[in-house]
Amino acid sequence: MRLTRYFLPVLKDNPAEAQIVSHRYMLRAGMIKQQAAGIYSWLPLGFKVLRRIEQIVHEEQARAGHIPLLMPTLQPADLWRESGRYDDYGQEMLRIKDRQGRDMLYGPTNEEMITDIFRAHVGSYKDLPLTLYHIQWKFRDEMRPRFGVMRGREFLMKDGYNFDLTKEDALHAYNRHLVSYLRTYERMGLQAIPMRADSGPIGGDDTHEFLVLAETGESEVFYDAQVTDIKLGAREIDYDDKAQCEAVMQEFTSLYARTDETHDVAVFDAIPEERRKSARGIEVGQIFYFGTKYSDAMGANVVTPDGGKVPVHMGSHGIGVSRLLGAIIEASHDDKGIIWPEGVTPFHCGIVNLKQGDADTDAACEAMYKALQKAGLDPLYDDRDERAGAKFATMDLIGLPWRITVGPRGLKNGVVELTSRRTGESVEMTAEDAVARIVEIYAGI
Ligand SMILES: Nc1ncnc2c1ncn2[C@@H]1O[C@H](COP(=O)(O)OP(=O)(O)OP(=O)(O)O)[C@@H](O)[C@H]1O
Ligand SMILES: [Mg+2]
Repeated sequence: MRLTRYFLPVLKDNPAEAQIVSHRYMLRAGMIKQQAAGIYSWLPLGFKVLRRIEQIVHEEQARAGHIPLLMPTLQPADLWRESGRYDDYGQEMLRIKDRQGRDMLYGPTNEEMITDIFRAHVGSYKDLPLTLYHIQWKFRDEMRPRFGVMRGREFLMKDGYNFDLTKEDALHAYNRHLVSYLRTYERMGLQAIPMRADSGPIGGDDTHEFLVLAETGESEVFYDAQVTDIKLGAREIDYDDKAQCEAVMQEFTSLYARTDETHDVAVFDAIPEERRKSARGIEVGQIFYFGTKYSDAMGANVVTPDGGKVPVHMGSHGIGVSRLLGAIIEASHDDKGIIWPEGVTPFHCGIVNLKQGDADTDAACEAMYKALQKAGLDPLYDDRDERAGAKFATMDLIGLPWRITVGPRGLKNGVVELTSRRTGESVEMTAEDAVARIVEIYAGI
């Protein structure tokens, strides 16, 4: 993309309504525009990151053997009357009447609808295990929408639902989700710690929330400092291997890590004092096992191998896809702007032309721009007729992890400059080497 042809409405001043850094930078970098409280348009740069995050979620769900589908945003109230949640859900549910006077709602989640799909099409243990998921917009009429996409009213969620014959199988699905979520967040450059949580209105016995530590997080968390040392890394996972998934789950959840809802002072105080940490965190996901709560209420049964009929065991598992943009920025920025991790960056690198209109400089930039595209990468070329300072400020604000700076003086010596957004370090090299280096960086991502 050439910046002169892009739509990047960068703001010069700090928007007064933004209280936290991620909200401020998302507005300033022209990523989102508020349309109503907690409801946003995704401008091209924000939309690009949103799509990258979705892509990672899809890839990791596929790896775990989970199957994508798409359910609508609007749902008939009758489904929710079957589970009893139409009355229980309260003011957060946006209720709508269609022209026939039928009660509808904008889905805050999809347990009822997926159970309806299941009972219509699955009747035998032979079709299990099954995990279906989608990435779809949700609406919750939050009392206090705030912090930009962090607590929106309309927000994008990945929600997945497992169907299993036995509790044991459903717990394997739970562990599979836990492991796949760890990998998902790590690929986004985030450390999200699974913490024992309260089951809330969905109801269930087993549930963990994934929290990214950040001062601006809305949850209060307590944990053993050693949990932050555990990483999934590049280890091979066989998602069909029950023992391996369970071992990873144990590894990540045995040390103390809880939200304030389940915090137990007596257990916490048994940890050596120097390891006892309290902090704030952003909830970026949650997994639940809730047994037969919905299958009982909605008649989702399967035939067992011995000819009996049992309600299917279920769980639901969510990732806050749009909230993740805010969480990533909270975790990765400086006073000049965002610092995108390579896994989610909207463009792989920026090319800054220091002397637009100078024939040699233009030609060198064009050549690199084309070479990067040919290598399958997506560079952003700042080809505006602007001062160098303004170009650098834009690049720093929008946070591309790598910048190639091209000017007549360097070209005279046969070099361009490659700069890391994270460290600020610059290295001079030939244009060919700079392209090769960028290609190499993204090869493993
Ligand atoms: N209002 C919201 N805006 C943006 N993302 C949200 C919002 N509510 C929930 N999410 C995201 O969707 C994920 C799954 O939804 P879940 O039902 O667990 O939310 P929740 O526990 O009600 O969230 P919270 O406690 O933050 O209100 C959450 O972990 C969170 O990342
Ligand atoms: Mg939750």
